[in-house]
Amino acid sequence: MPTPPEALADVADVDCRGRTALVTGSTRGIGRAAALALGRLGADVIVHGRDPAAGAEVMSTLSDLGARATFVEADFTDPDAVRRLADTARAWADGLDLLLNNAGGLFQEQRLVGPGVELTFHVNHLAPYLLTAHLLDALQENARVVTTASEAHRGASLALDRLTDGGGRAGMGAYSHSKLANILFARELGRRLEEAGRSVVSHSVHPGFVPGSQFGRFLPGPLTSLFRLLGVVPGTSSVADGAAALLHAALAPAAAAASGQYFSGQQSAPPTNAARDPEAAQRLWHYSADALGIDAPLAPPQSR
Ligand SMILES: NC(=O)c1ccc[n+]([C@@H]2O[C@H](COP(=O)([O-])OP(=O)(O)OC[C@H]3O[C@@H](n4cnc5c(N)ncnc54)[C@H](OP(=O)(O)O)[C@@H]3O)[C@@H](O)[C@H]2O)c1
Repeated sequence: MPTPPEALADVADVDCRGRTALVTGSTRGIGRAAALALGRLGADVIVHGRDPAAGAEVMSTLSDLGARATFVEADFTDPDAVRRLADTARAWADGLDLLLNNAGGLFQEQRLVGPGVELTFHVNHLAPYLLTAHLLDALQENARVVTTASEAHRGASLALDRLTDGGGRAGMGAYSHSKLANILFARELGRRLEEAGRSVVSHSVHPGFVPGSQFGRFLPGPLTSLFRLLGVVPGTSSVADGAAALLHAALAPAAAAASGQYFSGQQSAPPTNAARDPEAAQRLWHYSADALGIDAPLAPPQSR
């Protein structure tokens, strides 16, 4: 039997009974494996995705494990659906201990969605920003927010001027940019939570290169099968490895020490200079709030 993610992350002895986790994008792939691991550790789990049949399968597997679980369908191209997910999570649980902002992908579509913003940026960054903003007051003491980023952020620099002009990017360029946004967001969230005196920790994670998830289904034509075949190449990560990276950031005692860390797998690693730029993080924070028509959540830190 393959080693489960909780053992790979060395958190199999963390007791999650009485804790509630919301894992976005847990109908399949890395998120599904992380959600099932959290259920095995005793957590109540809110499963999220777009596919109701896949959501029902994860929920029933969690029930078989003895975990309390629910599934919420929400398409992250629609900000109202994100708000409904937050409301449902709030109503279902007394509070949240783990928020895993994991849903996302590499999309070829160039359409503008929600408030008229490039689809990839909306699904991968604005939706988790909005979800987190709506759940801030539900996050319990010592809660952790983990955002699934990627090493694909390398090479990207923050460019907020062309997200709404209709000539928007898609594919790898848009993906890299959105993953840079994930890291800037996680770091800025950590700084602002700290400034607010909250004990909530925020990290971002690169789960590894995981051809065994269904990430490749959004690639054009033959590249989907090619991506899956890469699973046999040494050095790639399994879905369990990817989930273990999320679990490490979410549960490992060592990862609680400092907020705003970027983990590549289970190793704390420096992201690029562009991802560590506090001014860019602040610009992104305000741009995101303005785009969504909400007040920027949490006060900025006094010093940077
Ligand atoms: N696989 C890799 O090599 C790799 C590497 C670095 C980072 N990542 C990141 O890891 C995360 C998980 O990816 P994965 O590899 O597990 O891929 P996956 O198997 O395709 O799973 C993606 C999950 O995100 C959900 N999702 C996608 N688009 C959505 C939308 N518009 N609205 C709501 N939910 C949506 C999917 O839900 P439905 O299927 O129900 O729609 C699914 O549950 C992503 O953020 C990805 O960028 C992956």
